[in-house]
Amino acid sequence: MSIRIETERLVLRPIGPEDCEDHIQMMLDPAVAANLSPTGGPQSRHDLWRQFASYLGHWQMRGFGWFSVQEKETGAWVGRVGPWQPEGWPGLECGWSIARPFWGQGYAPEAAIGAVKWAFDQFPELPRIISCIAPANANSQRVAAKIGEENTGETFELWGLTLDIWAADREAWLSRFG
Ligand SMILES: CC(C)(COP(=O)(O)OP(=O)(O)OC[C@H]1O[C@@H](n2cnc3c(N)ncnc32)[C@H](O)[C@@H]1OP(=O)(O)O)[C@@H](O)C(=O)NCCC(=O)NCCS
Repeated sequence: MSIRIETERLVLRPIGPEDCEDHIQMMLDPAVAANLSPTGGPQSRHDLWRQFASYLGHWQMRGFGWFSVQEKETGAWVGRVGPWQPEGWPGLECGWSIARPFWGQGYAPEAAIGAVKWAFDQFPELPRIISCIAPANANSQRVAAKIGEENTGETFELWGLTLDIWAADREAWLSRFG
């Protein structure tokens, strides 16, 4: 797939089979897994492999999906960011997960702005972009706020948890970041 998004420091491209091990390593970190698994802890390699395969399938079935994020300067794989909407999801979501060694450099918001711009461009009828965030996930809430999303007060039930739906409306977002 030839989709490629460049930001100041990062390159985004559709997640691919070659990213599987980097992704598994990121997800085995308890600090990363805390808000990304049904148990609140790292999943098994088996479950993470199956989860990763579903990300490749998402691109096949929907024509969009997670982007792998790499540093321009070093080529290092730093995480995944991007739009997705699995079955039963409350809208088109932009999500973000960054491997622990790369936290705190503003990579998630920088990549998310590139990915949201791409999503609004791809889907001219898309009224808003959402992000489903656990109430305890302060780091992710910071990213949402940095990319212009607000907590809507709507919620989404996943794995027995109640996630907050953060969102940004298309026109307001594009006038700020477009
Ligand atoms: C949420 C996440 C993607 C943020 O990525 P990032 O590239 O570090 O984003 P930022 O650099 O903008 O940092 C966001 C906030 O995280 C916190 N943070 C940053 N570095 C941190 C560190 N080393 N340790 C703890 N918290 C840190 C800060 O509160 C920061 O906000 P601030 O810039 O206003 O101080 C990352 O923490 C992550 O991958 N978390 C685990 C996966 C996850 O929960 N994903 C979201 C699911 S909804």
